[in-house]
Amino acid sequence: MELKIFPDGDKASKYIAKEIADFISDKNSKKERSVLGLPTGNTPIQVYEELIRHHNEGLSFRNVITFNLDEYYPMVASRKESYHTYMNINLFNHIDIQKENVHIPDGSIPGDMIKSYCDEYEEKIKAFGGIDIQLLGIGRTGHIGFNEPGSKKDSKTRLVELDEKTRLDALSGFRDLNFVPKKAITMGIEIILQAKKIFLLSLGKKKAEVMNKCFFNDVSSERPASYLQEKENVEVVLDEGASMLIPSYKMH
Ligand code: GLP
Repeated sequence: MELKIFPDGDKASKYIAKEIADFISDKNSKKERSVLGLPTGNTPIQVYEELIRHHNEGLSFRNVITFNLDEYYPMVASRKESYHTYMNINLFNHIDIQKENVHIPDGSIPGDMIKSYCDEYEEKIKAFGGIDIQLLGIGRTGHIGFNEPGSKKDSKTRLVELDEKTRLDALSGFRDLNFVPKKAITMGIEIILQAKKIFLLSLGKKKAEVMNKCFFNDVSSERPASYLQEKENVEVVLDEGASMLIPSYKMH
């Protein structure tokens, strides 16, 4: 695991977006597909803006396959609070990605079909040869995707209960805490860790504590992001705010 600290979110986001854009461009030139794993939340918005800029400057997403990390449950895709809507507004509506190449967990699947649906979601990822680049944010509970504390390293894509802290953080997108879903479908830790390259982006002072807990402490299921410590090809990318509790590191 490598730690990269940038002076601000703008530079950190531009760095990651360029890495992703260069990867896609290289794959495009070989007429190969790129498989991306994508997060939601406030943190990646600027990365998506930059990817749109790269697209406007000529980068094609026609050979890009995407798999989103998670979706609330229950959640109808067309609702404004859904991660489907988020992805359309923040990225997909602005690039030439093919609709059939976009995968986001379906939050409207009937309860008795969730298990087989989640197994199929992982099978699809594997059928594409796995995820080339996985972008992650981090929740204040130390979650990646919606893998809350207690998630095992070999956990599969599944229906999970959201931590109360996570639901409070999600409140701004909903009118009232009662409307924030109590569950979600999330990609499991196991398949996330199988990605060939992972960027975890963490921005702002409110993430400083969780960064310290997850990356300067033992690996523990109580801090699911800490599993990343054990993996190569992981870059944890921070701004100054998110790194303020971390021992001195070289700035990029
Ligand atoms: C949600 C998402 C996570 C994301 C987290 C952090 O819980 N499911 O994938 O990393 O929010 O959100 P933010 O970037 O808004 O802090």
